[in-house]
Amino acid sequence: MVPPTEAPSQPKRRSPARKGKGGAEGQWALGYREPLNGNEQSKKDDNPLNVRSRIENIYALRGFDSIDPSDLRGRFRWWGLYTQRAPGIPGARTGTIEPEQLDDSYFMLRIRVDGGALTTEQLRVIGEISRTYARDTADVTDRQNVQLHWIRVEDMPDIWRELESVGLYTTEACGDCPRVILGSPVAGIAADEVVDGTPAVREITHRYIGDESLSNLPRKFKTAISGSPRQDVVHETNDVSFIGAHHPEHGAGFDLWVGGGLSTNPKLAVRLGTWIPLEDVPEVWNAVVQIFRDYGYRRLRNRARMKFLVADWGAEKFREVLENEYLGRELLDGPAPPIPEGARDHVGVHEQVDGNYYVGVTSVAGRVSGSKLIEVAEAAERVGSRRIRTTVEQNLIVLDVPGPEVESLVSELDQLGLHARPSSWRRSVMACTGIEFCKLAIVETKNRATDLVEDLERRLKDVQGDIEKPVTVNLNGCPNACARTQVSDIGLKGQLVRDDEGNQVEGFQVHLGGGLGRDAGFGRKIRGHKVTSAEVGDYVERLVRRYLEQRSSDETFAEWANRVSDEALT
Ligand code: HEM
Ligand code: SF4
Repeated sequence: MVPPTEAPSQPKRRSPARKGKGGAEGQWALGYREPLNGNEQSKKDDNPLNVRSRIENIYALRGFDSIDPSDLRGRFRWWGLYTQRAPGIPGARTGTIEPEQLDDSYFMLRIRVDGGALTTEQLRVIGEISRTYARDTADVTDRQNVQLHWIRVEDMPDIWRELESVGLYTTEACGDCPRVILGSPVAGIAADEVVDGTPAVREITHRYIGDESLSNLPRKFKTAISGSPRQDVVHETNDVSFIGAHHPEHGAGFDLWVGGGLSTNPKLAVRLGTWIPLEDVPEVWNAVVQIFRDYGYRRLRNRARMKFLVADWGAEKFREVLENEYLGRELLDGPAPPIPEGARDHVGVHEQVDGNYYVGVTSVAGRVSGSKLIEVAEAAERVGSRRIRTTVEQNLIVLDVPGPEVESLVSELDQLGLHARPSSWRRSVMACTGIEFCKLAIVETKNRATDLVEDLERRLKDVQGDIEKPVTVNLNGCPNACARTQVSDIGLKGQLVRDDEGNQVEGFQVHLGGGLGRDAGFGRKIRGHKVTSAEVGDYVERLVRRYLEQRSSDETFAEWANRVSDEALT
């Protein structure tokens, strides 16, 4: 988190062969530096990181109405602030009313949790901030962050002071910049670890987050680093990922992936076929981000993610540009790491390499509260733990629990609604922010997820023991897929649908049989098939019972869903 000292560096060499589409796409590296849309203009007018001083010195003193619109709807994001949805606006109006009508005068605040790593002290401070300034709201997100709501701009100077006093930041938590660095939540403690990626997460965060040369990217940039053989950071959906891999001669290091992302035009990341030693990860990461900065498509926002560049170039050309233009050296070839079997989510009680245990617990859809976070920190400290982790499944993990203390901690967390031995549904349902706070939402999600979990626990009690691999259900309030619609067993994409009486009601389009790892791929859409929110419980029950009846021996839900006819999935 160091302030910038140098102007953005330019690529070392340019290849004339790459001209052609450049003008159309607005790539800086091809000389197209003039802003081609409002977002690009705003970033050029003033580096978005500069808004921090305006928040502290002007807006916090003069209040919400004093905020310049281009700061409010643009630059604030670089400091983790996003206006929340004004209450009571139905989903049908999301795309039709003016931004100022959708904006509430309160903010969502995203706190970066790089590597998902928190101390109990940091967790307590987040909880206290939530209680003092955020009406006790707190969500653990599927990118390991913690998000608060109801934040007032007047309180931001105090909130930053309190966060930063314990080493927490909101720098570049949103915006067109390098967002939180996902990391294996069991880095450094898992007995089966290939390599501990923590030093790379730390160095990238320290060296590059808040660096002005990387703060004007074409769009958001997402990173994942995991040396766990469980590959527990959804690397297939990130812009760049480093995944633990053994090289036959050089030992433990990382396999490099680029170009993943979901939203309305999803793409899975591709391997570049290289092996990167731990100490080179920050340098290679920086080079990949610079490629995106220089060659990324800036003309159209919906073509600006790095996945589009990677799809056009292919892995081979991307690697060539990385090596020749940015690193100035060749990378070693490396083998693909084996795809793990079994759960990636770390829920339950697991032994650490040092003989202590870690306890992974799940709420529903990451919804906790400030008070609960404080209680988790205190419960952890009572058994001698000082370390908490967040996961990409919206869960929490308490590390370093001595064996004799495990059961008392498990039951204490259970009382808080955080379960180490949850039902399959409590474990596998995720949800995005949804209409409660999100300005892009069409339907309700988090509360719907809570009801759905209880409903499914009741409906499917008799077959609970038959579901060996939890069937994931991901609820999303709109097509943006913040809760990873396309890579879950049952992905629900919020939209308005007609019920039996022809009324327009909240509902979902379904994507079935998507997954990551062994089942990597996007779910099938069933033509014309939509479910109303009221029907979701019925529908999931029907699907799961059919799956259990029809599956062959060890067939997963995703394999079954991709094998059967459309009718079997309606
Ligand atoms: C064009 C707009 C947006 C797109 C395309 C988009 C897309 C995504 C995607 C694909 C993820 C998945 C995370 C992953 O890679 O695993 C994500 C995460 C997330 N999104 Fe969005 N999103 C958008 C806007 C929003 C808005 C307006 C909100 C709500 C206020 C929001 C809230 C979240 C949250 C809470 C997460 C988990 C994130 C984190 O911890 O950083 N998103 N987004
Ligand atoms: S999926 Fe849509 S509704 Fe849900 S948080 Fe993302 S942008 Fe908002």
